[in-house]
Amino acid sequence: MYINFWYPIAASDEVRDDKPLRVELMGLRYVTFRTDDGQAHVLRDVCVHRGGSLGKGWVREGGVVCPYHGWRFGGDGKCQHIPTLSDSKPPARAKVDSYPVSERYGIVFAFLGDLSEGDRPPPPHIAEWDQDGWRANKLTVFEVGAYFERSMENGLDPSHNEFVHPAQGSPNMNQNLRRKPLDVQDVPWGSRFLVRFENEATPDRALGAEETLVPEVEAGSGHIGPNHMITWINFSKDNRFSQYFFEAPINEERTKIFFVNMRAFMLEPEHDERIAKVNLIIAQEDIDILEELDPVRTPDSTTKEVLVPSDGAVLRYREWLKKWDEKGWRIDLQTLREKKGDIAFAIPCPGRRESGNWVLDEVPLVEPAEAIAKPRVAQA
Ligand code: FES
Ligand SMILES: [Fe+2]
Repeated sequence: MYINFWYPIAASDEVRDDKPLRVELMGLRYVTFRTDDGQAHVLRDVCVHRGGSLGKGWVREGGVVCPYHGWRFGGDGKCQHIPTLSDSKPPARAKVDSYPVSERYGIVFAFLGDLSEGDRPPPPHIAEWDQDGWRANKLTVFEVGAYFERSMENGLDPSHNEFVHPAQGSPNMNQNLRRKPLDVQDVPWGSRFLVRFENEATPDRALGAEETLVPEVEAGSGHIGPNHMITWINFSKDNRFSQYFFEAPINEERTKIFFVNMRAFMLEPEHDERIAKVNLIIAQEDIDILEELDPVRTPDSTTKEVLVPSDGAVLRYREWLKKWDEKGWRIDLQTLREKKGDIAFAIPCPGRRESGNWVLDEVPLVEPAEAIAKPRVAQA
């Protein structure tokens, strides 16, 4: 799990201006709420007075109120009001980490890290969102009992399709996906591959689409950052799916996935439900496999697995993770686990670069030197 990336926090319609919402992400709790101007905010869910959960409180007068002694914190994380100090200003130290927010595609995303704006990866982007000839299904959110890296790697793995999803696509397509070498290309903050093959393809028959013969089909996937995955299935120029998976590691064992399905065919709203249903069947087929993987978390070294050329995109993903390890952005899960219950950590917010004197300890990170020494990516 990594600091300094954008994470989906909640669906937009869950974030309200009358009631805070608590969410867990990377083993730590956050509170999200809206101020009267409609702006969504994301704060660490720990009151710096004596540890109350702000998310159990309420939203009032432009801030979230702790249910324990009524301290009120603004969207910027600064304490606005302390009832027992009604005549004087709250001390400067009374502040909690507040994270940059970007709300788009019906999702509230937060940048969990302290990089200044120019150094951050760009907020999530759905290229087809506003384009003519594309339609989005309603946002689907589901949980998987698996570590997020396992889930991401599953999306970057074309060779599981014919075994895990035998009813989807066409046999030709699946065999081609399996046999073609993966040409994995880097993109800013990630990598992607597209496999092109001549094929007699049928737009997903489970959707009831008419069978058509198209000369060329492309399918592939890619990742941006450690936790955003995109799958492309192009049955033809006009007959395409682009599927966006924004993944939020809840903790070391669970992942919440915010899924936006874009399609360039069957654009009438009446197809939404059927498409959503098929997508959920496919997701469940993946979940059934992912929840049984052992070990739960990806091994630190590829010598603990036997990787083959069809795992090329998985390897490239791990190489990117390694780069972020070397920047010192990887959370030290072992220390976090050991100190749980004794220390309330916070992922440092950008405000920590502007002022000092913060109450919560910064989340432990794996030292870059330690990350470099570990052979996370070794050719099998
Ligand atoms: S613990 Fe939050 S106000 Fe006291
Ligand atoms: Fe799958």
